[in-house]
Amino acid sequence: MTPRELRTDRLRLHRWTDADRAAFAALNADPVVMEHFPSTLTLEQSNAVVDRAEAAFEKQGLGLWAVEVTESSLFAGYIGLWQATLEAHFTPAIEIGWRFAKEFWGNGYATEGARVVLADGFERLGVDEIVSFTATVNERSWRVMERIGMTHDPADDFDHPTLEPGHRLERHVLYRISR
Ligand SMILES: CC(C)(COP(=O)(O)OP(=O)(O)OC[C@H]1O[C@@H](n2cnc3c(N)ncnc32)[C@H](O)[C@@H]1OP(=O)(O)O)[C@@H](O)C(=O)NCCC(=O)NCCS
Repeated sequence: MTPRELRTDRLRLHRWTDADRAAFAALNADPVVMEHFPSTLTLEQSNAVVDRAEAAFEKQGLGLWAVEVTESSLFAGYIGLWQATLEAHFTPAIEIGWRFAKEFWGNGYATEGARVVLADGFERLGVDEIVSFTATVNERSWRVMERIGMTHDPADDFDHPTLEPGHRLERHVLYRISR
């Protein structure tokens, strides 16, 4: 059964509430947070991410968790597992991803939350391998991958199939970790 929440020393990862949606939309509209994505998201696009996350929890038992900093009860972003279906040499696969509002960067929250999400994937869901990928230029993200013990083989690097050739974000790194 999918737990209602996962906890770490400083974070509570929980299913989305309506109250999280406005803060998530603000983060998705921030060009700094979205620098390594093709564009920022509108309110409708942001809410659609939440709807898909909740649907995935119901159907697959995994999804993107809303992350709250326990001490302040503030919404900080998300961390979660996702079924990667893009056309690439490593798919289908289960991926781990994260996105935080700028004011929460630099505290180790993504690394701390990602560790409990990985453990949930390996222990509860019995996944054999979890991958993560990001634009090569997104160093902050691949440094989280390295901190949680994922490894990178340059032979796995790939061009994102939905970006046009030559796009500034086209080249991606792939990281992997096994149970
Ligand atoms: C990717 C992202 C989640 C990384 O956030 P982050 O805060 O850099 O990552 P962490 O939570 O692991 O924190 C690490 C930093 O906190 C610092 N830190 C402070 N206190 C810490 C603690 N108690 N424990 C660990 N690290 C701590 C570390 O020194 C490190 O700082 P540095 O980057 O200056 O070296 C964030 O940049 C983000 O949301 N980006 C936009 C969305 C995005 O690109 N997502 C990925 C798409 S694939």
